[in-house]
Amino acid sequence: MEGEWRKSILVTGGAGYIGSHTTLQLLLDGYKVVVIDNLDNSSEEAVRRVAKLAGEYGHNLSFHQVDLRDKEATEKVFSLEKFDAVIHFAGLKAVGESVAKPLLYYNNNIVGTLNLLEIMTAHNCKKLVFSSSATVYGQPNEVPCTEDFPLCAMNPYGRTKLFIEEICRDAHQADPEWKIMLLRYFNPVGAHSSGNIGEDPRGIPNNLMPFVQQVAVGRRPELVVFGTDYKTKDGTGVRDYIHVMDLSDGHIAALRKLFETKDIGCEVYNLGTGQGTSVLEMVAAFEKASGKKIPLKLADRRPGDPETVYASTEKAEQELNWKAQYGIEEMCRDQWNWARKNPWGYGSPETD
Ligand code: NAD
Ligand code: UFG
Repeated sequence: MEGEWRKSILVTGGAGYIGSHTTLQLLLDGYKVVVIDNLDNSSEEAVRRVAKLAGEYGHNLSFHQVDLRDKEATEKVFSLEKFDAVIHFAGLKAVGESVAKPLLYYNNNIVGTLNLLEIMTAHNCKKLVFSSSATVYGQPNEVPCTEDFPLCAMNPYGRTKLFIEEICRDAHQADPEWKIMLLRYFNPVGAHSSGNIGEDPRGIPNNLMPFVQQVAVGRRPELVVFGTDYKTKDGTGVRDYIHVMDLSDGHIAALRKLFETKDIGCEVYNLGTGQGTSVLEMVAAFEKASGKKIPLKLADRRPGDPETVYASTEKAEQELNWKAQYGIEEMCRDQWNWARKNPWGYGSPETD
């Protein structure tokens, strides 16, 4: 869109998995993007590859290694450039680690966000897109989850998401100039079709698909399936997997809505596909896409895991004019392409 050409977006956590894919889509859409990231769970190589994939738009990307808890350093980035909006991905996200280190999670996610909101206020930048999570639905009593379901966090990580949602609602209540999109992601998987950017978690992966991918390339011997006695089609947990490129496009749609709607206030949207897929179905789809056998070890349920979670997609479809395009075949195809080309993530040499 012509009028949006020079809009400048600050992307916090833009070196991370979802942030890097969204940054690429923003650049290709003609936005200027400034990424800040402390590289706690990512590498600058991701930012370099995004700039390369963006081709002629790559020069519209800049990067600052900054921790949001360092208010002075964050403030400095705002003094260099006037931002039209902020997409705030930066945060720690490992559920188990959050149970072991709750103070770290509250400090990083909440203090980081408070700093950001205060600095945005001081610089009169009051448009925000925030990465919330389906985790705020806890163990839903029914599915699909609609945005008006009761909220209930199951662990410190989930509570940071819930608290930040409330902080955003309060900020808007006190100052209606704020325009905020709270996006509740379901289960992002897959990678950019080039296979040059993707998810590269540090340490042992917590989530299903990064683990499956590491089994496929021989980094781990088997997948442990957490729970085979759920009341689901095959006894394993059911989730709403969404291709990371669809998720990225959901952010562009949300941003457009922020810029185009006068009194948008503080709104919440699910970003999912509306389809539930079991662990065994996902493994089968990945085996088909990769031609690799994934050895399984059947185990007990993982504490705190809900049985079945998937999204109602109606609100996002109607109000953001956005709908996920890809199914699990494409998710697994692109996940495998990234894994095949980068078996050691960003530590692997770039192949083209
Ligand atoms: P990620 O870890 O790949 O990306 C997060 C980025 O934030 C990392 O690059 C990390 O280095 C950076 N970061 C963390 N704390 C920071 C700080 N204090 N200052 C600056 N940078 C900091 O994770 P992701 O999967 O891309 O997730 C992005 C966001 O989406 C997170 O807020 C996450 O909680 C949320 N989310 C993710 C999922 C998922 O399954 N991936 C699901 C729901 C919500
Ligand atoms: N699973 C396994 N083995 C593994 C990992 C996962 O069997 O090694 C199973 C889980 O039990 C679950 C399914 O695969 O049934 C998906 O698990 P993930 O950990 O990939 O995803 P979750 O839905 O449990 O949680 C993820 C994020 C949360 C986020 C939530 C919703 O970890 O932070 O999605 O967005 F809140």
